[in-house]
Amino acid sequence: MSNDGRRNVGLEHKFEPLQDRFGRVARKLRVSVTDRCNFRCNFCMPVKPVWLPKSEILTYEEIARIARILAGMGVTKIRLSGGEPLMRRDLDILVAMLKEIPEVKTIAMTTNGFHLAEMAERLKRAGLDGVTVSLHSLKPERYEEVVGRKGVFERVTEGLKVAREVGFNPVKVNVVVIRGCNDDEILDFAELARKSNLTVRFIEYMPFDGRKFWRPELLVSGEEILQVIESIYPLVPLPREHGSTAQVYRFADGVEGDIGVITSMTSPFCSDCDRIRLTADGKIVPCMFSRDEYDVKSLLRSGATDEEIASFIRDAFYRKFAGVESLLREHKTIAHVRPMYQLGG
Ligand code: 5AD
Ligand code: SF4
Repeated sequence: MSNDGRRNVGLEHKFEPLQDRFGRVARKLRVSVTDRCNFRCNFCMPVKPVWLPKSEILTYEEIARIARILAGMGVTKIRLSGGEPLMRRDLDILVAMLKEIPEVKTIAMTTNGFHLAEMAERLKRAGLDGVTVSLHSLKPERYEEVVGRKGVFERVTEGLKVAREVGFNPVKVNVVVIRGCNDDEILDFAELARKSNLTVRFIEYMPFDGRKFWRPELLVSGEEILQVIESIYPLVPLPREHGSTAQVYRFADGVEGDIGVITSMTSPFCSDCDRIRLTADGKIVPCMFSRDEYDVKSLLRSGATDEEIASFIRDAFYRKFAGVESLLREHKTIAHVRPMYQLGG
């Protein structure tokens, strides 16, 4: 780095920053800590998933080492996901390890909520900042049909309640909207946001399901979701956070609670994407819409130095795929890439 005085304002990193060939810089790391899940959401899991062998899954030490190297290249935010992250025993230990990395400012987790009530306190104490719970229906029977497990709705909503009580900030709810399944609940979710002062984020259904069930007709666009809400509750957009596919809105009448729409399919904002992904089996995935992946685990397990790993990741990230817009331009469609549970949303 040039000696132009930037050293003093905290822009100095241990390694060269992670930058791709389009000039996009990585700031956020998503880590899939396991491919396993105790749910079988129909838009995510195959009916009979084949799990990765345990020996292929990164240990907490290995995850923390890669996170440390990435933090040395400019990553400041980490999100843990899966599969279901709380299927990993003692996940709070990993959170505490990541919290020790000085450059890491926030750690969040996306969970199905099943083990949240019992783990929330420990995770909070370990330093987890935010929690996002996936909740695709407010009707218990429908919810249980979507996730493929009976008798879990109350447990998940209890997890959400406990997450708020122990003081996670933010607490968000993710809803994957699927036409003919839960698109009649958009207003109910908006009311949940208002009543409970939550951020409810509506996600466009992406072709990342293990059952190849996705069809364009099942996609409900962010625009359509907003129209439904605004017919009753006018919204005011908040400035879009850099690199975010979510556009967040407040209610115009001043009632608390936020609405987010994640328009990964119809308005993907790939041009300022700042994410990099690490799969449970140790692959670096620069973009979830591309099949490109780079096996950093082999390097880790063959005794590479931090510098060698950093240089490997930098080369991988440099080649990052341009984005969804280019896919649409060249192929007119977005095909199945890989299921979300192998990737980490
Ligand atoms: N399309 C959109 N979102 C999905 N998720 C899982 N599969 C899909 C899909 N095919 C969501 C999960 C979770 C987040 C990580 O991604 O429900 O909220
Ligand atoms: Fe499990 Fe989440 Fe996939 Fe549902 S969406 S099957 S909870 S990983």
